[in-house]
Amino acid sequence: KKHIVEVEAFKTDSKEAVEAFRIKYLGKKGLLNDFFAEFKNVPNDQKKEFGQTINELKTLAAEKVNTLKEALENETDFSPIYGDLTRPGEPIELGARHPISIVKNQIIEIFSRIGFNVSEGPEIEDDWHNFTALNLPEHHPARDMQDTFFVQTDPDILLRTHTSSVQVRYMENNQPPIRTISPGRVYRNEAISARSHCFFHQVEGLYIDKEVSFADLKQTLQFFTTELFGKSKIRLRPSYFPFTEPSAEVDVYWGLETETDYRMTKGTGWLEIMGCGMVDPNVLDNCGIDSETYSGFAFGMGIDRIALLLHQISDIRLLSENDVRFLEQFRSAL
Ligand code: PHE
Repeated sequence: KKHIVEVEAFKTDSKEAVEAFRIKYLGKKGLLNDFFAEFKNVPNDQKKEFGQTINELKTLAAEKVNTLKEALENETDFSPIYGDLTRPGEPIELGARHPISIVKNQIIEIFSRIGFNVSEGPEIEDDWHNFTALNLPEHHPARDMQDTFFVQTDPDILLRTHTSSVQVRYMENNQPPIRTISPGRVYRNEAISARSHCFFHQVEGLYIDKEVSFADLKQTLQFFTTELFGKSKIRLRPSYFPFTEPSAEVDVYWGLETETDYRMTKGTGWLEIMGCGMVDPNVLDNCGIDSETYSGFAFGMGIDRIALLLHQISDIRLLSENDVRFLEQFRSAL
């Protein structure tokens, strides 16, 4: 029993002392072996207690040796005294921002300068927010324009095909004046190629107030393209979207200096960058905004294609392959 107290109290930070301790208790000629040898001489009525006590002592001593050894080894691993203090440190590997994030941040920054905030919403949407509220009732032929992924077999739940769904949510929860952009990932069931993917990224914009006109839309887009591309030649072609009237498609003149320019603009030098238009009054009413009092414009663009052009990337698939040799080339492009 005296030894149990001694073992419990034992402390040291020297390896030699631990070894001496081990030999004293657990070694071949150690105390414990002596006690075990003594066992046969113990009177029968005391055998039980004696046995239990030496077993306890043995376990305690073995545990003590193990914990002390472990503590000392760990200390040695981290002890600066064993390292070369003059050696230069290992540089920390820095990642790079993804080109999609770079371009998305640029777009957000440009619109924030003219008062647009950022709104976000879910990627898994319901039919109302992705289609019906946007003037696309069931069986409307324009639903086929956006090949939709449905979630399981429920036709009401889908992967959003555009971030216009976020604008619906924003209008449902906010009254004009509204100036918001909605960046995010969208999904379309399309064949994957160098030019298009089954998911990509959009920034859609919405501006609603009293007396907003088409001229406001055009000037806003002109400002945006000049800031992003440093070139200001754009053209608007009449188009059709169920949620805007009138609607237009916006091309920016980029030029034909490289092979990527050639491919991206199909040899014309013009890149189609977005759809836009005046928000259809039905959409405003669907979302609880009085279309007699308010009007507004909306626009939506794909980030991926713009990133391909700005960074001269030849294949959209590179954006989602996560090949570090590709990604680390954007280190300086913050
Ligand atoms: N939602 C359209 C699309 O994804 C883009 C768009 C947005 C067009 C707003 C007009 C107005 O193709």
